[in-house]
Amino acid sequence: MSSIFDKFAPLQEQHAALTAMGRSPADIVFEEIISPTEAILNGKRTILMGTNNYLGLTFDEVAVDAAIEALKTEGTGTTGSRIANGSYDGHKRLEEELAEFYGMRSAILFSTGYQANLGAIAALAGRDDYLLIDADSHASIYDACRLSDAQVIRFRHNDPENLDRKLKRLDGTTGSKIIVVESIYSMLGDMVPLKAFVEVKKKYGAYLLIDEAHSLGVLGEKGRGLCEHEDLEDDIDFITGTFSKSIGTVGGFLVSNLPGLDIVRFASRPYMFTASPPPSVVASARKTLSRIAGASDLRKQLWENAAQLYNGLKSAGFELGPTLSPIIAIRLSDAEKAIALWNGLLDAGVYTNLALPPATPFGWYLLRSSISAAHTPEQIALAVDVCTKIGKELGLITLSGSKKTETGKLQVNGAKALNGASEKHPFSTSEPESVVPTGAGAPVARA
Ligand SMILES: Cc1ncc(COP(=O)(O)O)c(C=O)c1O
Repeated sequence: MSSIFDKFAPLQEQHAALTAMGRSPADIVFEEIISPTEAILNGKRTILMGTNNYLGLTFDEVAVDAAIEALKTEGTGTTGSRIANGSYDGHKRLEEELAEFYGMRSAILFSTGYQANLGAIAALAGRDDYLLIDADSHASIYDACRLSDAQVIRFRHNDPENLDRKLKRLDGTTGSKIIVVESIYSMLGDMVPLKAFVEVKKKYGAYLLIDEAHSLGVLGEKGRGLCEHEDLEDDIDFITGTFSKSIGTVGGFLVSNLPGLDIVRFASRPYMFTASPPPSVVASARKTLSRIAGASDLRKQLWENAAQLYNGLKSAGFELGPTLSPIIAIRLSDAEKAIALWNGLLDAGVYTNLALPPATPFGWYLLRSSISAAHTPEQIALAVDVCTKIGKELGLITLSGSKKTETGKLQVNGAKALNGASEKHPFSTSEPESVVPTGAGAPVARA
């Protein structure tokens, strides 16, 4: 007899194949969380290299105490949407603090970063408007396109010239044009060439929305992200972000300097029809947000740690993402070897993210790490050593540590070689240029 789940047979098969080779990423359950960088997994002390806990603040005492106090005084949850049930004082305060932090007129709080993109983009881009999105956009941006009534146009990843051509074709149309980019792309850690996108936006009178999910707390002297780092904040119309990374909790937001933003609340289904963030989450987010501007020591440490991991893996001979960032991904074209490397690392007590196609660019298999300021040099050195040892055993890198040329899928897809990656980080005087292949392979939403 047929079952409603029959349509998932290919997915089931893929999952079974993965599990047959060891574990499935979806089945990882940490028995104990020791610190932002360590947990117990299957009875073994494991270094956490894939958490997005960029500043390592998940155990910050002040944030934890504020959450406990809010739990005790305001309860475990709000049990409803702000439109229906009203707001708590913390919601309003957090929005004011977000607006102040970014130096913008207003902010809207969402329950997650996913919902912030979904709610902001789908509401801003109406029936007669045009949404122009990067081909490598996060799933939340793709899902926003589905929810929006606007016409969706995809441009090549990190390619402002391609965007320019697409906008030119819209000459004479009246609807608003909304360009959506991400500051640091979540799979390879490459950054958007923001200045060039700002120029295109200005040329066509379009709006620019940037998702700073992976750059809040990470970039900029005050931690406001790539727009601050590139001194382009005045040229950005909308910023979305999340509390699930540097802020160490959960929640999302939209900020803008444009007058009249507030009305978006009433046009945004992911804002209206879901429960608002619980008081404990709001309380810890407020405390951590208030630390971000002054956390330059953590940012410096974060980038030093990222450089140690990036340079260690690169000189071992691994193919990595194009630019140094706190997201460091080993690119592989062989599924079995990628899964074996991931399992081998787990056996050795190192947890990374295994990212598989179609959630990855060019059909690559990625072992993705997100470094934290809380990692110690010893933890990073151990991760590099273990990776190098298993990489050699699997024939992914040669014994001398030089690169093995990967063939097959990469060449079939026509991906350019990702050369020119630099050891420089944002505290260096000369910024490395982001060199990212464009145009090959079917664009899919990224995880
Ligand atoms: C670029 C990007 N935007 C949005 C999100 C969604 O954030 P959240 O986890 O708060 O839903 C993520 C999460 O991974 C992301 O990487």
